[in-house]
Amino acid sequence: MSLLIDQPASFVRVSTLSAHSPATLNGTRRLIDAYGRHISDLRISVTDRCNFRCVYCMPEEGMQWLDRDTILSFDEIERLARIGVELGIEEVRLTGGEPTLRPDLPELVARLSRLPLRSLSLTTNGFLLRRLARPLAEAGLKRINVSLDTLQHDRFHQIARRHGLDEVLGGLEELERYPSISPIKINVVAMRDFTEAEVVAFARLARRKPYVIRFIEFMPLDADGNWQRERVLSGPEIKAIIERDFMPLVPVAAEPSSTSRRFTFPDGLGEVGFINPVSQPFCGTCNRIRLTADGQVRTCLFSIDEWDLRSPLRTGASDAQLAGILLEAVSHKELKHKINEGEAFQRASRSMSQIGG
Ligand code: 5AD
Ligand code: SF4
Repeated sequence: MSLLIDQPASFVRVSTLSAHSPATLNGTRRLIDAYGRHISDLRISVTDRCNFRCVYCMPEEGMQWLDRDTILSFDEIERLARIGVELGIEEVRLTGGEPTLRPDLPELVARLSRLPLRSLSLTTNGFLLRRLARPLAEAGLKRINVSLDTLQHDRFHQIARRHGLDEVLGGLEELERYPSISPIKINVVAMRDFTEAEVVAFARLARRKPYVIRFIEFMPLDADGNWQRERVLSGPEIKAIIERDFMPLVPVAAEPSSTSRRFTFPDGLGEVGFINPVSQPFCGTCNRIRLTADGQVRTCLFSIDEWDLRSPLRTGASDAQLAGILLEAVSHKELKHKINEGEAFQRASRSMSQIGG
């Protein structure tokens, strides 16, 4: 049985619905937390369902899905995103579960692309991209992250517990036909005793194809609760493998809020990145908040509590009241995760597929 089912329901904080907040910038209310971090990145989960069952995310069976009527409608998502933009959100990323399972996803992309955003992106497992790349590009999607942990069929099934490598690689190829979606990033969740064998193959892929390959350290967000520190293959270790077995890496400057340490190769061809939340936490520059598919605000992947926007949305709250809840949630944003703090670490109240990466 999945541990998830045993986990306590997350604690929902009810806002006082105050439209007044100290977080102002030049007289305009802004999403700024108690540590001075400007929140400009909103990740919106559009479904908790998925067509894969990746071992680092979901249980093989027994996942409990959200009731359909709790899932926010496109109108509701669009409204919250607009309010977010008025408070300083500049980037929106759509996530899941698997966001492409949400019917009419391109329509939502088209609606959000009308907001004045610097970036509108999608994180997907890529299985349906052959069909969806074009409608997503036409709808105005700007960036994409495709999850892909192995380039071998049997290993793909070991991780995703489904077959699908050809579909994902085909989807990536299809994306190459739409240069308005750029860059194409591949997320590789790195796990010890698994990923080492393909580090160099991924580095070669980064040079052969217009894909930025990013290795992400395995985090304790798996629904099975199987995460162990020993299973984390750290970014520095992967970098050492590339440099020992393949080629030296040259640092590329990254934006301060970037979670990825970026590198190219000596001839400038190809890019790889390392996202090291466990070995080199980047909480100090975190500029993100998350909206779950059922309308709860989470201020950290590892949050224990959430802020309910769905009930006020559905009981006639004004834009100012919804903005007040967002401001209040952000004012309580956690300083940092506690993965490295032994006993003090408490698992998040939801697993990755329910939060949305
Ligand atoms: N640790 C690290 N990354 C994870 N992802 C899913 N679960 C985990 C985990 N436990 C990644 C997925 C996807 C993104 C949403 O997060 O591979 O790329
Ligand atoms: Fe699905 Fe993504 Fe979780 Fe894999 S990591 S099971 S693709 S939501």
